[in-house]
Amino acid sequence: KESKAEVVPASSEAAQKLKISIYFATWWALNVIFNIYNKKVLNAFPYPWLTSTLSLVCGSAMMLFSWVTCLVEAPKTDLDFWKALFPVAVAHTIGHVAATVSMSKVAVSFTHIIKSAEPAFSVLVSRFILGESFPMPVYLSLLPIIGGCGLAAATELNFNMIGFMGAMISNLAFVFRNIFSKRGMKGKSVSGMNYYACLSIMSLVILTPFAIAMEGPQMWATGWQKALADVGPNVLWWIGAQSVFYHLYNQVSYMSLDQISPLTFSIGNTMKRISVIVSSIIIFRTPVRPVNALGAAIAIFGTFLYSQVRFMDEECLQK
Ligand code: 3PG
Repeated sequence: KESKAEVVPASSEAAQKLKISIYFATWWALNVIFNIYNKKVLNAFPYPWLTSTLSLVCGSAMMLFSWVTCLVEAPKTDLDFWKALFPVAVAHTIGHVAATVSMSKVAVSFTHIIKSAEPAFSVLVSRFILGESFPMPVYLSLLPIIGGCGLAAATELNFNMIGFMGAMISNLAFVFRNIFSKRGMKGKSVSGMNYYACLSIMSLVILTPFAIAMEGPQMWATGWQKALADVGPNVLWWIGAQSVFYHLYNQVSYMSLDQISPLTFSIGNTMKRISVIVSSIIIFRTPVRPVNALGAAIAIFGTFLYSQVRFMDEECLQK
């Protein structure tokens, strides 16, 4: 899509850039709000399998309502579409629940520092599983990403292995989700918004039995009594807010993916983490040691370097 930029007039190119900037700003802002409410919920009601499921329930219900009331035109899908969506939904479900489990165990900022290593996972999966090769500078740019994340993890005050592994599993799952989505969305007539809606519905079907097996109604009922006693009915609003914002930020991100290349998308996603890391540290007053912050800064800088070398590489390929 971006390669078409050279043939369109400058004014429509500027309009397109403005549109994408608005998508990015909305995506990032919605994501910050989601992360804050999600953590507030998990602090009071630490059942990540249930809260992950409720996010999908809410998104699916919102989209079914929009289709029934014709607010949004329902997508025309066939069996092949749902078959192609299945691996995307499996990866989305694993990535989603793993990130939520991670955030239930560690600070939001720590989960997102580890999640800033997603480009490194993407290169390693493309190299070792898909057999794609990259120029040397791409591999070199992974060193600060991996080193920075390693330093941040080693110096994290509240390190927890489940929290760390959850973020790592989420990285791996989302790399596969992006690879499968890219294939599934190619040449299809379903919009980004409806594609994400179908993804939510299928993920909800996949996740529900696992959530019941991992936690289950008895645990939820006991936890709910405690949350009500500790926080009061506000916790219900927080669950509502985290669920609505989860759907909205993902929907906007898929709407952006319709407009930009997967590379620009994944860089935007990592840059989004800077706003999440900074805002969550401020709001939750997360203690951060200077060496820990240095690790995070090196990792994010590595992502910036990575994006530059990948863009240069793509430009060379287009010439
Ligand atoms: C989730 O619950 O799916 C994660 O918080 C998603 O994280 P990401 O969209 O920022 O990768």
